[in-house]
Amino acid sequence: MTNLENILRAKIREGGPISFSQFMETVLYHPEEGYYSMNEQCGDYYTNVDVHPIFAEILAKTFYQEWNERLRGEECFDLVELGCGNGKLAEQILIWLAENAQDCFQKLRYTGIERSEKRIQSCKRMETAFGNKVQLTPEFSFPTNSVTGIIFSNEFFDALPFERVLKKGNQLLEVFLDHSLRETLAPATENVKAYFQWLGSEPKEGCYGEAHLSSKEWMEKISAALGKGMVFTIDYGFESEELYSEFRTEGTALCHYRHQTNREFYKRLGLQDLTTHINFTTLIKSASKGIQNCPLITQSNLILDKFLNDLTEKVGNEKDPRKRLKLSAAIQSLIHPEGMGNTFKVLIQRN
Ligand SMILES: C[S@@+](CC[C@H](N)C(=O)[O-])C[C@H]1O[C@@H](n2cnc3c(N)ncnc32)[C@H](O)[C@@H]1O
Repeated sequence: MTNLENILRAKIREGGPISFSQFMETVLYHPEEGYYSMNEQCGDYYTNVDVHPIFAEILAKTFYQEWNERLRGEECFDLVELGCGNGKLAEQILIWLAENAQDCFQKLRYTGIERSEKRIQSCKRMETAFGNKVQLTPEFSFPTNSVTGIIFSNEFFDALPFERVLKKGNQLLEVFLDHSLRETLAPATENVKAYFQWLGSEPKEGCYGEAHLSSKEWMEKISAALGKGMVFTIDYGFESEELYSEFRTEGTALCHYRHQTNREFYKRLGLQDLTTHINFTTLIKSASKGIQNCPLITQSNLILDKFLNDLTEKVGNEKDPRKRLKLSAAIQSLIHPEGMGNTFKVLIQRN
């Protein structure tokens, strides 16, 4: 029996069956054995950040544009990243701003929020490179209205623990785990029922689905902290109507292990990632009063609408044929309609 299995069984022996989010909390975030505590750089999935530094450049330009148009007059420019992982994205964004936008960079204060101690340690190189412009912390503790700038994330919300439910016989059932680490179903808890009532939508009859209570809590917290600026979220997912369609009978919870996906949630504990498509309606509805939600767009919309000329010129100007090929292949994979281009969505919320 693995260590995590022992930990889970002991927890269940003590307090009874655990919810799916409690299971995730342990297998992903246990301080020593959890997937994100052990894996500083995961080889189980491929993200935008892994494609090419051009992804960070696109974000840096988007953020610079926002600063120029709405935040230039402010004393300070906060860039707050949720779940900054190993800091690769932030490092590339900061380098681009330092080299191309000194006016903005001078006012910049970057805060990386990351709960994995191992990952925070690997981000320390940014403190060395950028000095007191960089702060790293495991908690989001900004008071109300205190952020002037941009709160951004790439694949943060999909890594938050969620509850799994099944709609059956017109009843909402919730997945729990018993002492032999087997699923049991019981009527959904009041919290979960209240979440779906608040959302105004739920999985269809005969379908599993996820309840994203942590996403709601996070968005309430970050949108309240935003004094002036924007929340910029990139992740994969849908709005409620599409997420809870009758075709998604198994819901969207998935494990990633060595570039393959599976639904064996209770195997390879701590060795495989466990995620879900996020519910953008949750992020839109839970933003605090006064926040303006822009229409949800795809990653390819963001890139093509704003940067097509820029990128075409950049490819054309690249003299080294190998680098040119790499760059154009990277751009294609970021915008491909059957790949990252449509899978990843961008939500912009402003205050
Ligand atoms: C899927 S990874 C994405 C990492 C990085 N943003 C990227 O694009 O490569 C999600 C990250 O969020 C972090 N995370 C999850 N929940 C968190 C929380 N409550 N507070 C801070 N970081 C969290 C995880 O430790 C992990 O590093």
